[in-house]
Formats: sequence, structure tokens, C-alpha cells
Amino acid sequence: MDKISYHPNAVEKLLIIFLVVQGLMVASAGNFYQDVDITWGDGRGKILNNGQLVTLSLDKASGSGFQSKNEYLYGKIDMQLKLVPGNSAGTVTAYYLKSQGSSWDEIDFEFLGNLSGDPYIVHTNVYTKGKGDREQQFYLCFYVDGRPIREFKNLEGAGVPYPKTQPMRMYSSLWNADDWATRGGLVKTDWSQAPFTASFRNFNANACIWSNGVSSCSSNSSSNNNAWFSQQLDSSGQRVLKWVQKNYMVYDYCKDTKRFPQGLPVECTVKSRK
Ligand SMILES: *[C@@H]1O[C@H](CO)[C@@H](O)[C@H](O)[C@H]1NC(C)=O
Ligand SMILES: *[C@@H]1O[C@H](CO)[C@@H](O)[C@H](O)[C@H]1NC(C)=O
Repeated sequence: MDKISYHPNAVEKLLIIFLVVQGLMVASAGNFYQDVDITWGDGRGKILNNGQLVTLSLDKASGSGFQSKNEYLYGKIDMQLKLVPGNSAGTVTAYYLKSQGSSWDEIDFEFLGNLSGDPYIVHTNVYTKGKGDREQQFYLCFYVDGRPIREFKNLEGAGVPYPKTQPMRMYSSLWNADDWATRGGLVKTDWSQAPFTASFRNFNANACIWSNGVSSCSSNSSSNNNAWFSQQLDSSGQRVLKWVQKNYMVYDYCKDTKRFPQGLPVECTVKSRK
């Protein structure tokens, strides 16, 4: 299970992303017939069980995907994901939020498959105004339920754009990425195991719907009764974030000095000065 919380707040200006891998908590779920459209995959994506379940499948010819009907500007968005079981090497199950246009904002979770018994990696990225290159990767573990794994602070003052003005849609997809996903592309998809299937349930967008250029939430945060709107990482959240990053992080763009010979991105150096 996996949860994104997306709430650029007028006061705290923090964007906090939670990852929940396993949980008994069931969000009050909507209905996939009302909430999403299957957008590609020629029948490989299916809405089942009266709208309670979506399955996506991948075979040699194609993967598949769906997206939310609504766009949101601020919100807390939950979904339970069941990743491809067994030998999932080469496959990627993606779950992300993205706005439109060439100067888009995006928050990514991509679950990189692996051989049976070898660990999945969750690959994350943040794009603001069309610029990404902010990858962090983590091993999944059974004990990160409800724990924050990444935060993206508002550093507009230092010239780093922040994703707070463009409404985003939720997207999910299952596709082949065996040129890079598993051990950097060394382990290929075993097509004899196809079709690969991932499933999704309990989509819950506790979020402000964007319609005709207006968000359904008031811009006046003190009259906004959504609890997530004023939520921020408290000191115990900060400690958990540090713990996850220390024990499960396997890649951090802010430590990849080879990749940025001209110097690390601004947000990395601002952070380390703290
Ligand atoms: C797959 O397992 C190998 C061996 O444990 C590990 O090095 C790698 O990081 C794992 N994940 C991916 C997505 O490659
Ligand atoms: C914002 O909401 C608060 C509480 O409802 C109200 O007192 C205040 O006047 C509102 N401000 C604006 C600018 O609407």
C-alpha cells in the first residue's frame, strides 16, 4: 500500500510524501468507474468487482495504464497497490501525479521489479516546471507503514520552483523497463512469465478538485477544514524520515557528485547547510 500526501501549505510550505508499504488501514474508497479512466493497453487494464479493483497487465506487446478523471490542486491521495509478484524483474509499476503542459510538475513513485526473493526498489522523483533529475531510491521493507520517505521543501527563495500552482492528475501504469529498471538493466524481463499483473484498490482522493481554473478548496487556509492542509512533518516524523533515509535509501541524487560536475542542484546544498 502506498500513499502520497501532496499539500503545499501556505504557511509551512512543505511537501511531504509518505510511502506506506503494508497496511491494514483501509481508506474510505471511491469507485473506480467514477474515479478513473483506463487510458491505454488495449484491454490489458480492467476495472473489476463493481469498481473496487483495477488490474493492469503487461505482456511482450504492451503494458497498460489508467488516470484519475479529476485533477487536484492540493490533497492527500491514497491507494493500495499490489505489485507484480514472483519474478517481476524488468517491470515497472508506476504511481504518480502530474500536471499538464511543457512546464509541468510531477511527483513520481515507480516500483522497480526484481527476481523472486530480491528486493523491489521504489524510485522517486520530483519535477517542477518541467525539470526533474531529483531521483531518490529506497528498498521496500515491511516496516515503513505510514512513514514519510521523502520531503521536498519550498525553496523558492533560493530559486527552486515549487509545485504549488499547477493541478495534477493521478496516473498509474505497468510497463516494461528492462533496459534500466533491475540492477541498472542487467536483469531482463522473463517473458515466459507473462502476463505480469499489478492491482490497485481503495483509491481515495482527499483532495481539492480543480475545475475551470478554480480549486474546490478555499484559498483561505484558516477556513479550510481538511486536516492534511495544515499537517507538517513534526519532530517524530523528521526522525522517522532520517531513519528511513539512513537504512533504506539506495540512491540519492544529492550525493551523486559525478552526475553534477558543475555542482549539486541548489536544493541539495541548501539542505546540507542546515
Ligand atoms: C534487485 O536485487 C539485487 C540483488 O539483491 C539488488 O542489487 C538490486 O538493487 C535489487 N533491485 C533492483 C530494482 O535492481
Ligand atoms: C478566512 O477564514 C477565516 C475563518 O473562517 C475568516 O475569519 C477570515 O475572514 C477569512 N479571510 C478571508 C480573506 O476570506
